[in-house]
Amino acid sequence: MFSKKTWIISVAMLAFIVSGCAVVGNAYHEEELGLRKVDLYSEKTVVPDATDYTQAAAGESKLIQRSFENAPPMIPHDIEGMLPITGDYNSCLGCHDPAVAKDVQATPTPLSHLASFRPLTQLGANGEVIKEGKIIRNSTDVLTAMHKREGVSMERYNCSACHVPQSNNEPLVANEFQPDFRSKNGISSSNLIDNLNEGIK
Ligand code: HEC
Ligand code: HEC
Repeated sequence: MFSKKTWIISVAMLAFIVSGCAVVGNAYHEEELGLRKVDLYSEKTVVPDATDYTQAAAGESKLIQRSFENAPPMIPHDIEGMLPITGDYNSCLGCHDPAVAKDVQATPTPLSHLASFRPLTQLGANGEVIKEGKIIRNSTDVLTAMHKREGVSMERYNCSACHVPQSNNEPLVANEFQPDFRSKNGISSSNLIDNLNEGIK
C-alpha cells in the first residue's frame, strides 16, 4: 500500500505535469513568432505598408521632436532631388552649413559637426600606440579629443547616414519608451558638445 505521504507527492507531481502541459497548449508556435501577424513561413507574400514621407518642402515643414536626449533629429521636410550626397554635391550643406543656415531659416549643423573627435594616433618606435601624444594601453582611458575643422567635418559629410525622414505608418508594436530630457529644450535641440566627456574621469 502507498503511504499517505507518497500519495500527496504523487498528486502534487501529477498536478505539476498537467499544468506544464497546459502552458505548452498556450504557447506560441514558431510560425506565429513574426511581428507581421501572418504565418512566418509565408512571409514571401507579405507586402509592407507603403511608405508615406512628408511632402512639405524645406522651409514649410514642422520639426519632429527628438526621440531622446541628443538623438540625431529626423528630417522633417521632403528630400526629393537632394539625394544621393556625392563627393561634389551635398545639397544639405547648401542650407544647413552654419555659414548660410540663418539666411534660409534652416537649423545650422551643431558645433559637434564642426570638429573631428578621432584621437590623433601614431605608432611609437617600439610599436606602442600613442594617442593624443600619450602612450595608451587601454583605449577606454582616452578622453574624447576635439579637433576643430574649418566648417563641417568630413566625418559628418554623409548627413543621411544619421539623419533620415520619417514615414507616417502605424508601428507594428507600440513604443512605450519615455525619454528623459535633462535640459528644458532637449526635446527640440541638442547640446552633445557640452557633455561629451560626461562620466569619464
Ligand atoms: C532648401 C534648403 C534645405 C535643404 C536643401 C535641406 N534642408 Fe533640412 N531643413 C531646412 C529648413 C528650412 C529646416 C527647418 C524646418 C522647415 O522650415 O521646413 C530644415 C530642417 C532639417 C532638420 C531638422 C532639424 C531640427 O532641429 O529638428 C534636419 C535633421 C534636416 N533639415 C536635415 C537635412 C538633410 C540631411 C538634408 C539633405 C538631404 C537637408 N536637410 C536639406 C532646409 C533645408
Ligand atoms: C555620424 C552621425 C551624423 C552625421 C553624419 C550627421 N549628423 Fe547631424 N546630428 C547627429 C547627432 C547625434 C545630432 C544631435 C547631437 C549633436 O548635437 O551632435 C545631430 C544634430 C544635427 C542638427 C540639430 C542641431 C541643433 O541645434 O539641435 C542638425 C541641423 C544636423 N545635425 C544636420 C546635419 C547635416 C546637415 C549633416 C550633413 C552635413 C549631418 N547633420 C551629419 C548625427 C549626425
